[in-house]
Amino acid sequence: MIRRMATQEHPQHPIPRFPAGFLWGVSTSAHQIEGAAEQREPSVWDAFTDGPGRVKDGSTAAVACDHYHRYREDVALLSGLGVGAYRFSISWPRVNSPGGLDFYDRLVDELCAAGVRPVPTLFHWDLPAGLDWLERDTASRFAAYVSQVAERLGDRVPKWITLNEPAEHTLLGHALGVHAPGKRLLFDALPVAHHQLLAHGMAVRALRAAGVTDVGIANSHGPTWAASKESADVEAAEFYDVLLNRLFADPVLLGEYPAGLGELMPGDVEADLKVIAEPVDWYGINYYAPTKVGAPQGAEIEFGGVSMPAELPFSVQEIEDVPVTDFGWPVVPEALTELLTGFHERYGDRLPPVVITENGCSYEGVDDQERIAYLDGHIRALHRAVEAGVDVRGYFVWSLLDNFEWAEGYARRFGLVHVDYDTLERTPKASYRWYRDVLRTQG
Ligand code: NOJ
Repeated sequence: MIRRMATQEHPQHPIPRFPAGFLWGVSTSAHQIEGAAEQREPSVWDAFTDGPGRVKDGSTAAVACDHYHRYREDVALLSGLGVGAYRFSISWPRVNSPGGLDFYDRLVDELCAAGVRPVPTLFHWDLPAGLDWLERDTASRFAAYVSQVAERLGDRVPKWITLNEPAEHTLLGHALGVHAPGKRLLFDALPVAHHQLLAHGMAVRALRAAGVTDVGIANSHGPTWAASKESADVEAAEFYDVLLNRLFADPVLLGEYPAGLGELMPGDVEADLKVIAEPVDWYGINYYAPTKVGAPQGAEIEFGGVSMPAELPFSVQEIEDVPVTDFGWPVVPEALTELLTGFHERYGDRLPPVVITENGCSYEGVDDQERIAYLDGHIRALHRAVEAGVDVRGYFVWSLLDNFEWAEGYARRFGLVHVDYDTLERTPKASYRWYRDVLRTQG
């Protein structure tokens, strides 16, 4: 395995021009950056991180980047970068707490004054402690919270995202137990998928009722590559592809579950699918890397720090001969073109305009030439998808700041801006200046 991406010289050719009106941005999420945990209700992540050995460096997000108190400085970093939009998330536990919505009100005002379009995500994994996605009622509660937020911020916020990566929240949080709430239910976690999808559809309706005309979802997707042409590997890869690329896309875009899955979901699934398929204005994709998948190996295997039980009908395997990030994730920019053209083929007219709501990599250091090479390669790959006819309207780098990377704690740094966790000082990295220059040339 090649440990690190070879440091690339500053790209020789300018990045090709994207269509007029293309939205350039950066993303963050509440639990990962805000801190000020004492000024909100606890979330399932607070309860989870308090348990021993669950977060690798033993850290919590109680302070994180202290964005709650330093948001003005962070908005200034956004203006300096020249992004058109900022994707952040709203913490449901904070909104439940006295004065919680006031914070987002101030943040939105600050962004508007800086000429940066706010793009809030309404759920990015920090469920209020005490709620549970296994319960259907959580979807209705979510819709009520969404109405409350939209009523308060809707006059200044045109563009909204319902959920972030329900696939990871289901798989890592409820099937494998390596994220909050730490449940290891394997396929019994499927109701969590259904209830989040239902929550998405109900949230779209709540936003429409509040007059919102620009709403999407942020799902994680990536090409699945079969480990070989053997039928056992191909079948395992197809199964994994359904879980990652279709379970959360087919219901939203087509109003149906992939064959065989609808029967496993709770409640009146046909009626729920009508809510889930409430039309969205655009479809958000978080893309990081492709996955190589083969037949199960008949034993528990460790992959990417996650132990995968022997009962799973697939095994995730290492992609050889490609560079990897400090996190060990493969760097394969052309897989982004493959993903998008594949989506375009699969969903045709049912696929609304696409926005890349996250793309990025973890590397140490402030002279982060590897991050520049990663972003450069992926933005060019995105442009090739546009040239191939995929209607892509925006691109958001994950992330503005180094932050709390869930079960990895603070050990993985995804930011364009370095954060010193002792002093909370922010230092723009080389990639920050590089992205700023890209945005300038894109106009
Ligand atoms: C996806 C998640 O939405 C985000 O919270 C996370 O930090 C990045 N991927 C990197 O793992």
